[in-house]
Amino acid sequence: MKVVSFSCKIYDRQQLCRSFPPSWDSQTVEPILDKHTVVYAKDADVVSAFVNDQLNAEILQILAGYGVKMVALRCAGFNHVDLAAAHRLGIKITRVPAYSPYAVAEHTIGLMLALNRKLYKAYNRVREGNFALNGMLGFDFYGKTVGVIGAGKIGRLVGERMKAFGCQVLVYDPYECSACEALGLEQVPLATLYQRCDVITLHCPLTAETNHLINADSIAKMKKGVMLINTGRGALMEPESLVAGLKSAQIGYLGMDVYEKEGALFFEDHSCEIIQDDVFERLLSFPNVLVTGHQAYFTQEAITHIAETTRDNIQMFMDGELLLNEVTA
Ligand code: NAI
Repeated sequence: MKVVSFSCKIYDRQQLCRSFPPSWDSQTVEPILDKHTVVYAKDADVVSAFVNDQLNAEILQILAGYGVKMVALRCAGFNHVDLAAAHRLGIKITRVPAYSPYAVAEHTIGLMLALNRKLYKAYNRVREGNFALNGMLGFDFYGKTVGVIGAGKIGRLVGERMKAFGCQVLVYDPYECSACEALGLEQVPLATLYQRCDVITLHCPLTAETNHLINADSIAKMKKGVMLINTGRGALMEPESLVAGLKSAQIGYLGMDVYEKEGALFFEDHSCEIIQDDVFERLLSFPNVLVTGHQAYFTQEAITHIAETTRDNIQMFMDGELLLNEVTA
């Protein structure tokens, strides 16, 4: 049984080595899966792939020609897979439905705390012998109102944790959140959330409806100086409106773990290159913006869970069992 895993950084390779049975012929490839690298999948039975791997009809056709019968995604999202083509070619697709909602919720709160108390500035100042406090003034989260957009697994964990800080937590979700009331999270219309919240954090999926949910119009409805946090998906926010909102001080703080055009930047070292994305570079130039490179999920527990679920998905396929995490068109 030959399994070829694409987009494998050193930490992925180490984890897959630990989690995959030694009896499998398991090979890892660092580059993303695309038309130049697909050849590495020759003679494979199974391909494992991550968020930026290309699984369009053309690539799937080549994989089918190599004898690949299954693509085991090591991620939750499958918007990058042509499911209809996979079905036509008889290739099964599975995914890892959730890695660790705790990891993402904790990183979200980390961004809030770091932005408020300027921890990223304090780190550099103190190391340079500068112990001055000017420019470091923060606020108490206690008594503030936090808005959570998307009351799913991650959103509810964030809400619960902000309650522990003494915040009032409002949630918006198009579906009734039956678990919210018991957690003390008040479900409100989106307009109310925009109007009342000091901090707004995004935990809804990226869909046609939520694409650019945060734009000039919605930003104008928020409190002046609002803290905006996005650990959901980059395209939930319209980047040019963020720049305008920061310039006018309508946005007081911005924390992002995801960015609309992150595919060209994230997960790689571009420190010796000239970054061409002017909007991204402008966002980084603000002192009240903190960006991390899609690392909210990145905990030992989460990557272990990803590898083990991928292993189980492949094993189920080999054993001819019902694929619990299969995705179909
Ligand atoms: P979930 O499926 O448990 O919750 C999503 C919630 O959003 C659901 O309650 C759903 O009803 C709600 N929703 C759907 N449409 C909405 C809309 N138009 N407005 C507001 N809410 C809406 O998903 P989970 O596990 O909580 O993940 C949330 C998001 O976090 C994912 O979609 C993904 O984009 C992102 N994520 C980010 C990671 C990172 O490393 N930065 C890692 C994992 C997930």
